[in-house]
Amino acid sequence: MSKKLLVHPQTTPLRGIITVPGDKSISHRAVMLAALAEGTSTIRRWLPAGDTLATLNAIQAMGIRVEIDKHTETAWDLQIEGRGLHGLQPPAGLLDLRNAGTGIRLLTGILCGQRFPVTLDGSTQLRQRPMRRIAEPLRLMGAHIDTTNGRAPLHITPASLQAITYEMPVASAQIKSAILLAGLYAVGETAIHQPGPARDHTERMLAAMGVHLETEGDWVRLKGVTSGAQRLQPLDLTVPSDTSSAAFPLVAAAMVPHSQITIENMGLNETRTGILTWLQAMGAHVALANERVTGGEPAADLTVHFEELHSTAVNGDAVVRGIDELPIWALAASQAAGSSTVRDAAELRVKEVDRIGVLAAELRKMGIQLTEYPDGFTVHGPVRPAGAAVDSHDDHRLGMTLAVAGLVATGDTTVHDAACVADSFPGFVETMQALGANMAWAD
Ligand code: S3P
Repeated sequence: MSKKLLVHPQTTPLRGIITVPGDKSISHRAVMLAALAEGTSTIRRWLPAGDTLATLNAIQAMGIRVEIDKHTETAWDLQIEGRGLHGLQPPAGLLDLRNAGTGIRLLTGILCGQRFPVTLDGSTQLRQRPMRRIAEPLRLMGAHIDTTNGRAPLHITPASLQAITYEMPVASAQIKSAILLAGLYAVGETAIHQPGPARDHTERMLAAMGVHLETEGDWVRLKGVTSGAQRLQPLDLTVPSDTSSAAFPLVAAAMVPHSQITIENMGLNETRTGILTWLQAMGAHVALANERVTGGEPAADLTVHFEELHSTAVNGDAVVRGIDELPIWALAASQAAGSSTVRDAAELRVKEVDRIGVLAAELRKMGIQLTEYPDGFTVHGPVRPAGAAVDSHDDHRLGMTLAVAGLVATGDTTVHDAACVADSFPGFVETMQALGANMAWAD
């Protein structure tokens, strides 16, 4: 809870070749979908982070056998014995998804198609996050879900589901995925319209498992499903490195003078690469090598080196392609010449915490001013931050953003409540240290 991360100003360049752990979004989905497959799935480089472990525990609590080879501390190989769409068993108690928004929302989509009642809950932080956004469309499909004032805990009781055509009010992969997964249990064709290109890992994985999906423009359709007739083939997957985790060393290297780093096997799904586009627009130099496809997802080795950055704007459809990277982008923008503005990003306010308000408050402690809007902010740069005592508010991406801010600050920085960085990036500190970064856990 109160684990502290100490960061000293970085006086030497960051250099080296690193890999970052597997993708969190793909790791959640791999465990859930493998559980529903007919047979044993093999998943390599699975991410054992706080969030994904909560999903793994929930799946195991429903009777799914998982053999775990703890290959390294940050990359596990899993063999998951799928039992088919109706093979999950009632858990002994409630399912605790801890801080995992993706875990609770996607599992809700699956669980409203089961023949047993179940309760899903999570941490105090997760209990603050909106669940009506999934409960409403799922209820339109016939699901029985009781929320607690639109939030977790969620109580689900068995119901038969019918397909719907649904226009999502926000571009969200979690909403899209919850409906698609419920659609596996529904009679008829599920059709979803997304107002922007939300990440498509669920679609890719379902397609790889033999499910007939069609994507046309902003529409996704789950084709020709009759309740119970759908069969998912087992997965054989190597999880690519998480683009969202890679963003932290990437931005650090773009800001610390004379740095040059390479991140191996980084996921380059174009629904996720907003941060690369934005950094390039700011003058960062990014080069790709060894481009490949792993588990149906594009990946490559990416090299970035320090460059003087200038301001840019992020808005419209681009936002969803890097929604999780906007905190670290804000830091990059604070080091860039000119004013950088993000708009159309109101979703930031309903992430792990209000990622506009809390980020602005914490960066202000370091002397970086954000002008807030309901749906974004402006950063005026360049400004050299001052070292300070700051707090992650138990938000992994804010914790890592503040740690990287400490590297370009004038004095020492302490990031309080920093254990949460392992919710998505176990080994974050060690990875940064491998590049020569001046940060360490406090004793
Ligand atoms: C995720 C989708 C995004 C993202 C989250 C992971 C996913 O959330 O912010 O970190 O794995 O589907 P929304 O779908 O709510 O935008």
